Amino acid sequence: MSSEISRRKFIAMTTTAAAAIAAPVTLIADESHAQQVPSARKKMKNMNVLVLHGSPHEDGNTAGLVDIATETLTKNGHKVQRIHVADLEVAPCIACMECQKNPNKPGCVFEDDGASTLEAMIHADALIITSPLYFAAFTAHIKPLIDRSFALCRKFGTKDHMSFVANKPTLFLSTGAGPYKNNGEILEGSCNDYTRFLKLDKVGFFYASSKPAVSDEKKAELKALVETL
Ligand SMILES: Cc1cc2nc3c(=O)[nH]c(=O)nc-3n(C[C@H](O)[C@H](O)[C@H](O)COP(=O)(O)O)c2cc1C
Repeated sequence: MSSEISRRKFIAMTTTAAAAIAAPVTLIADESHAQQVPSARKKMKNMNVLVLHGSPHEDGNTAGLVDIATETLTKNGHKVQRIHVADLEVAPCIACMECQKNPNKPGCVFEDDGASTLEAMIHADALIITSPLYFAAFTAHIKPLIDRSFALCRKFGTKDHMSFVANKPTLFLSTGAGPYKNNGEILEGSCNDYTRFLKLDKVGFFYASSKPAVSDEKKAELKALVETL
């Protein structure tokens, strides 16, 4: 922050958000991934599903999950658009809060691929957000976009909290070399915060260990979860 005023404003705007983030996240540390509780939402036909793929690898372990989701969705009549986020130019959020002044659109000061991707998120019927685990977190490829999504919500922590992507069915997919417990579940905590900020309808957080390879059992589990979208 370059001035005392902007620092104070930033603190005021983010205090409630920080309090909410600090709230305990209920995680079911169960390798069977019982955390995927399908929501009560009515299923839509012919959806345009936007995949934001956050691995640097277009054909890696996480992309394998995207392939399964894509196959299942297209079989069910939905259209899938996959964006390989590592190919985009997305400046990191600078917390200038300019976006928060615009009630009608994301209003981010950066007019880069991040801005067009936020628009694409608004126009999609459902979202799939993917990232391999990097130190139990999102990759550096997708994190700038996650942060820039702050421009999609307003007045977080107040009764007027709104989001341009409210109630959008959203599925999170991740792979990592290790287990879900104390590892994948940490990323799920971040996804839960993201869900709350953007008022998304979280369909599930699907985590599969990629070591030695994603098992057939996990693949079948993912297909069943995608069927609920
Ligand atoms: C920098 C880096 C950090 C990683 N951190 C973790 C981690 O914290 N937990 C984990 O289980 N795997 C971790 N991994 C392993 C990857 O998440 C795993 O191999 C993943 O399946 C790669 O997916 P991709 O093929 O889609 O890139 C890490 C890998 C790298 C390169």
